Amino acid sequence: MLVFMGFFIHLCIINLFSLVITLKTILAIGDEKDFDSFQKFCRQAKRFKKKNFSIKSVSYDSFLKGKLPKVKSKSIIVLFFFPFEYWDKHIETRKSREVYGNRKYYLKFRKFWKEMDSKLSEFYSDKKINFVNPPGKIYLERDKEKTNTVFADAGIPVSRHYSTRNHRKILRLVDNGKKLFIKVRYGSMGKGITYLEKDRWLTNFSFKKGRILSKKSDYGWTFKDITDNKPFLRELLKQDVIVEEAINPFLLKGRMFDLRLYVCFGKVLYVYPRSNECDKVTTNISQGAKGENSAFVHSIPPLILKRAEKNALKTAKAMNLKFAGIDIMPNNGKNNVTVIEANAFPGFPKARKFNLAKLLIKEITLQKWK
Ligand SMILES: Nc1ncnc2c1ncn2[C@@H]1O[C@H](COP(=O)(O)OP(=O)(O)O)[C@@H](O)[C@H]1O
Ligand SMILES: [Mg+2]
Repeated sequence: MLVFMGFFIHLCIINLFSLVITLKTILAIGDEKDFDSFQKFCRQAKRFKKKNFSIKSVSYDSFLKGKLPKVKSKSIIVLFFFPFEYWDKHIETRKSREVYGNRKYYLKFRKFWKEMDSKLSEFYSDKKINFVNPPGKIYLERDKEKTNTVFADAGIPVSRHYSTRNHRKILRLVDNGKKLFIKVRYGSMGKGITYLEKDRWLTNFSFKKGRILSKKSDYGWTFKDITDNKPFLRELLKQDVIVEEAINPFLLKGRMFDLRLYVCFGKVLYVYPRSNECDKVTTNISQGAKGENSAFVHSIPPLILKRAEKNALKTAKAMNLKFAGIDIMPNNGKNNVTVIEANAFPGFPKARKFNLAKLLIKEITLQKWK
């Protein structure tokens, strides 16, 4: 009898123990088409073993059809990857005649995230849903005007924005020696960018018969000289654009560069420099800039790196993003830096260079989730 009671108590303790260490599920939602971050994450997830966590993944396509994985645990932690297929099918479609990066793109994107939010709570109504980056905030990073205000309000160094859309006023600024970036307000990947300085105007849009044309591809947005093309400038200023002062970039080995800092739950996990020749306009790898290695990072003055890290953490916090890629450009002189943008869906470095997915999973499991 005593032996039986002992066994019974032992069972109770095991049950109690498993109640205390409740199982949690990380649910990654992405697209198979996303050969970069989502696939790297899923590959890493297969190798993951931790008693109180499990990782599941689902495509947006299945998700939107209501086919979501069954989850045993009470607690779910959702991690979103970029919805490439949805974007190509419903937002930046091949048929779209809208100038790339206009407000319509943003409104459709926002609608998508609202839908994700409500579908998730509907499907997992009996669960506690946590988010790495909440769907109600995740799309904000796409609005370059709004984010500039959010950053500035948080005391983060940003480029000066101009509110005028009057081409004469813009030309006066340029004539007076200002160098300006005119970027589509809701763009990314270095698409839809125009640079103006006295006698040097460049754009990676096309302009034919008085119309601004957008390339139907994410790549190959090359810059063309459009110096003094006032009809183009007038048309551009009618679009949803931002007008921003250009940073005089700090050069290393004669190259300009920016730093992508991967921030995860208040830590900088990795710094990835992207460089280009100093007469180029952008440092987007998608448009031909070069990814640099750790030797390049080591040659950056430590004070610049320190300031970049401090401001990357501040930016992620101001944006309510627990995982983000923050792009920062060091300024020439005085070791200052300028925050360019925050990305809620940063591309992942090559795993053999830096296994971001592994560290991201580790950081997620280290947090206190309800
Ligand atoms: N104000 C600026 N001064 C100097 N370079 C800039 C400025 N804004 C953007 N750039 C360059 O252009 C690139 C693209 O700008 P960004 O705002 O990041 O747009 P996107 O979202 O398309 O990547 C940056 O990575 C940087 O190299
Ligand atoms: Mg960018």
